Amino acid sequence: MSDSYALLVAAACDARQASYAPYSGFRVGAALLATSGRVYVGCNVENASLGLSICAERVAVCRAVADGEQTFAAIAICADATEPTPPCGACRQFLLEFGADLTVVVAGSAGGAGKVDQYRLAELIPEPFTSYRQQETGGDR
Ligand code: THU
Repeated sequence: MSDSYALLVAAACDARQASYAPYSGFRVGAALLATSGRVYVGCNVENASLGLSICAERVAVCRAVADGEQTFAAIAICADATEPTPPCGACRQFLLEFGADLTVVVAGSAGGAGKVDQYRLAELIPEPFTSYRQQETGGDR
């Protein structure tokens, strides 16, 4: 892992402590670095109606966007797993909305002290769905 992401991984692991995961018991934290330099954290929030549960990554994106941020450099993810756990497909698509160049840093429960994998989002979602507007209009709106 590049040293520059050590703080972001630490923030993701810290955010995991706030996870609300009574059903799966699987806590996840995420820390999203905006190009402004600000960091937005998220944790997974589950629901008795299980399909309503939301992943840590999407909580971080929503917090950032609600704060006026739309350009991001990196996201760190830290889950309750020995091995680093890359984001689910829904989160890959959700992150892609704001750019495929995003750096995705994935740690296990040991955080920066354990194995940490690093990807570019484009690698994790190679054939993405992009906007239906581009298909309809050639991208002019
Ligand atoms: N989860 C995340 O927070 N991020 C992912 O990328 C995959 C899964 C959460 C959702 C659910 O609360 C728990 O992990 C088990 O799937």
